[in-house]
Amino acid sequence: MVLIIGLNTIAKAQFQAKIDSILNLMTLEEKAGQLSIFTNDLNERGDFIQDQYITLITKGAVGGIFNAHGAEYTRRLQKIAVEKSRLGIPLLFAFDVIHGHHTIFPVPIAEAASWDLKAIEKSARVAASEAAATGLHWVFAPMCDVSRDPRWGRVMEGAGEDTYLASAVASARVKGLQSTGFQDADAVAACVKHFAAYGAPQAGREYHTVDMSEITLRETYLPPYKSAIDAGALTVMSAFNEVNGVPATANHFLLNDILREEWKFDGVVVSDYTSVLELINHGIASDTSGAAFAGFVNGTDIDMQSSFYNHALPALVSKGVISETRLDEAVAKVLELKFKLGLFEDPYKFCSKEREKRVLLSPQNLSESQNMAKKSLVLLKNDGVLPLNSSKQKLALIGPLAKSRQDMIGGWYAAGNGEIAESLYDALIQNKNVKELMYAVGCETTASDTSHFQEAYETALQADQIILALGEAAWMTGEATSRSSIDLPGVQNQLFSRLLKTGKPITVVLFNGRPLTINEIDHYANAVLEAWFPGTKAGSAIASVLFGDENPSGKLPMTFPKSVGQIPIHYNMKNTGRPWDGVTNTTSRYTDIDNKPLYPFGYGLSYSTFDYSSIILDRDSFKAGETLKAAIKVKNSSSRDGEEVVQLYIRDLVGSVTRPVKELKGFKKVLIPAGKEIMIEFTIDENLLKFYNTKHGYASESGTFELMIGTSSEKFQTCFFNFTK
Ligand code: NOJ
Repeated sequence: MVLIIGLNTIAKAQFQAKIDSILNLMTLEEKAGQLSIFTNDLNERGDFIQDQYITLITKGAVGGIFNAHGAEYTRRLQKIAVEKSRLGIPLLFAFDVIHGHHTIFPVPIAEAASWDLKAIEKSARVAASEAAATGLHWVFAPMCDVSRDPRWGRVMEGAGEDTYLASAVASARVKGLQSTGFQDADAVAACVKHFAAYGAPQAGREYHTVDMSEITLRETYLPPYKSAIDAGALTVMSAFNEVNGVPATANHFLLNDILREEWKFDGVVVSDYTSVLELINHGIASDTSGAAFAGFVNGTDIDMQSSFYNHALPALVSKGVISETRLDEAVAKVLELKFKLGLFEDPYKFCSKEREKRVLLSPQNLSESQNMAKKSLVLLKNDGVLPLNSSKQKLALIGPLAKSRQDMIGGWYAAGNGEIAESLYDALIQNKNVKELMYAVGCETTASDTSHFQEAYETALQADQIILALGEAAWMTGEATSRSSIDLPGVQNQLFSRLLKTGKPITVVLFNGRPLTINEIDHYANAVLEAWFPGTKAGSAIASVLFGDENPSGKLPMTFPKSVGQIPIHYNMKNTGRPWDGVTNTTSRYTDIDNKPLYPFGYGLSYSTFDYSSIILDRDSFKAGETLKAAIKVKNSSSRDGEEVVQLYIRDLVGSVTRPVKELKGFKKVLIPAGKEIMIEFTIDENLLKFYNTKHGYASESGTFELMIGTSSEKFQTCFFNFTK
């Protein structure tokens, strides 16, 4: 029997009757099947559908397939579900579309460095339209994990260390992915991951234990997930890690008390890859049945890849261990998602080859990717060598990442093709400003071979300027890529020291997915440009900044430490009872390094210079229900138009629990024409002053607050105000 029901844009209540009628027809096995998803082994468009999938789909033992994409391929899989399975329930197709699908955008941490929410939303919109054009309905994004530990390789996939910025970015991404809904087939369902606190593994080691106070969990780690859910995200992925002794995939407190009860989330929760099975390793279940039980009753609706729900749920329900009502609730949510996507109306809605051809890698998408890449670049140092002077065009381009195309698209590049990405070399060789371009590799990214140093040195000697492309290989960031050292890998530092001996000006272009410890480079290079992994249009985006066609405007979303021993280091630390006073040994400090980071959160230079006047408050104090306006004049005192990210921080001087020394509470990215001064205004209300304490929950407290507005978390103007509840 085939159920193709003519419903698409009707209200949820109207789906309910249809959902109930489908549930009535389903066996327990078919219900468990809707709660099981499996990877397409090939992780790419296959011409060939493996027998195991044909069997699973025909049996109705699978609700969706991930890592399968391509209009033609997904159509073929869908045809099996619709025509061969007993009830003809369409499949969901999912994929990790994290920063673009075919047109690859900068990695997420780079996008966050743009502080440009409109551009981030646009990037997600393009990714969604490309994903949908290849038959996908559901993407495993955005990753909303705050992380304060650059050893953790997945900081590349998030928005950095700050809760406020990460929340704003999470919301922008969901809006971009889901757009205004699924009436047209160019939006996809978002999946908020990894719920929760996956970004805080002990010692930065992937999948490791997470243990933190409820205050920290609620105040620092949970808000970005909440923000994504408030933006309408339809699904959530539970995380691999445990949180305070309970694995997230079987964590009732997280998945029920917080997610469903407090936040009223009524969508689907999917496990991470085999995280139901891993409940056995965590030691909270001893077998398939126990793990399926623990995951399911505690709130994980769909089992990704373990196959445990398929194997165990029917028996658990038959024996009355799990109620059929709970099973039906979960299945209803999956069916509702399929209704919302319009799949019961047209299961092939997303499978148009014509559209696929038109949308993928379109000139417009490529140009959006290039724009985003330009906005993501962060100028970390510049002694005046940049922008490159057009009378000094003899360039030596050196370094292991100078000619790499594949690395430009970073990790989790979905269906991106590294071969069509622009390397820095590709862009410079075509750049009209470059009279002569010489190239030498110098060394490999991670190897210890120094035999190419001499060639690099000699090449550099012939040039006016050295552009040195250093960093991590793309595979060094993303899942399962924790590092105990965040220095430049291999012999890259030695290569840099050798090139310094030429006496030529050196601009280092850094490619990386996490903050790195680059003290020597910061000290001796003439300029340092943080490029992250900028995506398909990497080369031309970087070249436009090097030559000054584009004025850099990115700001760091994560602190760069001087040493791995300073981690965790983030701008919003607590003051302690003995804050370092610069002289007293017995204050909070190290004996071998100062407390300051190399580059603070919110930092980034421009070719323009911005002068901040004093802050003007419209009043000294305000009460709950009122607002306070803080204004500041920012002048572009240079001869170039430039964009500045004006940042607002607040400190609560005395609280019932200790408060951070500052917290980001607002920002505005503004274009300020050369020589012009503009007034920036922020409105402060009670909400911005609230925090968690165990007695009162999320609440504000009366008192005195410091207000800071500036160009980074370390450079700002300051004033004080009082607030009364
Ligand atoms: C594991 C990763 O943790 C998650 O982010 C991803 O979505 C799934 N694998 C599926 O690929």
